[in-house]
Amino acid sequence: MALERTFSIIKPDATKRNLTGAIVKKFEDAGLRVVASKRIHLTMAQAGEFYKVHAERPFYGELCEFMASAPIVAQVLEGENAIAKNREVMGATNPADAAAGTIRAEFAESVGENSVHGSDAPETAAVEIAYFFSGLELVG
Ligand code: CDP
Ligand code: MG
Repeated sequence: MALERTFSIIKPDATKRNLTGAIVKKFEDAGLRVVASKRIHLTMAQAGEFYKVHAERPFYGELCEFMASAPIVAQVLEGENAIAKNREVMGATNPADAAAGTIRAEFAESVGENSVHGSDAPETAAVEIAYFFSGLELVG
């Protein structure tokens, strides 16, 4: 197994409901360590750049508006197989399909307002981490 880093966002629906600590606890309980963390309020342009891979999808405009609607908490999580582990703890994109005990099963409000983002592969993790954090801000 490999020590890995992944990129995580606690989304506006969750920060608004004061769920930051509850969500971080799920990650920590699963063996993931927070090695960088910042609370920021994205502009529409920043949300659009972050999610540009979905630019052609019908939900893109709504997704960007949601991500810019309130503060987020951007984090880098480190651990064994962190990318897959994080996705497992998050649960399926649509909370109706998310396994019991996952973040999205417990906290997500809808398929769009689903409380968390997590990178889906090593390449996207590297790009997403670099978009939000400098090397100096990663403290393992
Ligand atoms: O976040 P995840 O990687 O599980 O899903 P995605 O397919 O990469 O979609 C990115 C985000 O777009 C989701 O987390 C949702 O917030 C949003 N989305 C949506 O609003 N409606 C959909 N049908 C699918 C995704
Ligand atoms: Mg995704």
